[in-house]
Amino acid sequence: MSILFYSTIDDPAEWLPRLQAHLPGETIRLWPDIGDPAAVDVAVLWTQPPEGLGALTGLKAVQSLGAGVNQLSLGTVSPAIRVARLVDPGLSDDMAEYCLLATLRYFRRFDLHERAQRVGEWSFRLPQDRAGYEVGIMGLGTLGAAVAARLAANGFPVRGWTRLPREVEGVRCFAGATELDAFLDGLKVVICLLPLTAETTSILNARLFARLDGAYLINVGRGAHLVDDDLVQALEAGRLAGATLDVFHSEPPPADHPFWSHSHILMTPHVASAGDPATATAIVAENIHRAQAGAPMLYEVDRARGY
Ligand code: GLV
Repeated sequence: MSILFYSTIDDPAEWLPRLQAHLPGETIRLWPDIGDPAAVDVAVLWTQPPEGLGALTGLKAVQSLGAGVNQLSLGTVSPAIRVARLVDPGLSDDMAEYCLLATLRYFRRFDLHERAQRVGEWSFRLPQDRAGYEVGIMGLGTLGAAVAARLAANGFPVRGWTRLPREVEGVRCFAGATELDAFLDGLKVVICLLPLTAETTSILNARLFARLDGAYLINVGRGAHLVDDDLVQALEAGRLAGATLDVFHSEPPPADHPFWSHSHILMTPHVASAGDPATATAIVAENIHRAQAGAPMLYEVDRARGY
């Protein structure tokens, strides 16, 4: 039996020695040195390797290296194979910090000051009222809840929107399509941390932006949540005042994509959060043990639901 590790973004030099320390006696293989493909029983992956998973005929489980799993193209993975998301304190902390930073940048108007400086303008403005600066988080999973807690700890009133009703302490919760407009009403910042599913693809669209009035968008979910043209139009129309985007339809976006040069869009290259091998390898090792024993994994994906 062997464990396969493949990622285009995670550093194997950080992951493999720690993983091996948690799994003494196990053979851990780094793609493309996969040995006998039929011997691989667990694959630890960010995306599928270029040749897919078809040759891994003994595969029991896939452990995602991301909090999300859509990048694994699970439609091509047999439903009999268990799949687990990565839940890791390092990943949650990174995400909470990124969203707090992006929110504070807007709340303290650094975006306006950056633009004013570039054109030689001294643009004094009084500070804004924090109690009236409501931030809405779409998706209250592990990451959404961590972001909500961090924003609330910094004094921001927080709303949350989820597919099914949910209660999170300190968060005004809204659920489902019928409560989406009420959730959006009056928000200063909208943060997207939804899983990417058929239902949430293109959810950040003109209809949603039309409910906003000069709000800011922070998309740290997936690029496919956003209709790019609708964002550009919403910025032009003033429905949105700016956007911070960490995820894109293709990464990087093509060189002629309008986001690159847009004065009201800040792009970051999918860096909002990453699993920390120092903490995540223990969780991954536990999941490998579970998968090998045929037991349910921690944070296992509901294959029908897609997250
Ligand atoms: C990153 O995008 C992740 O899914 O963790």
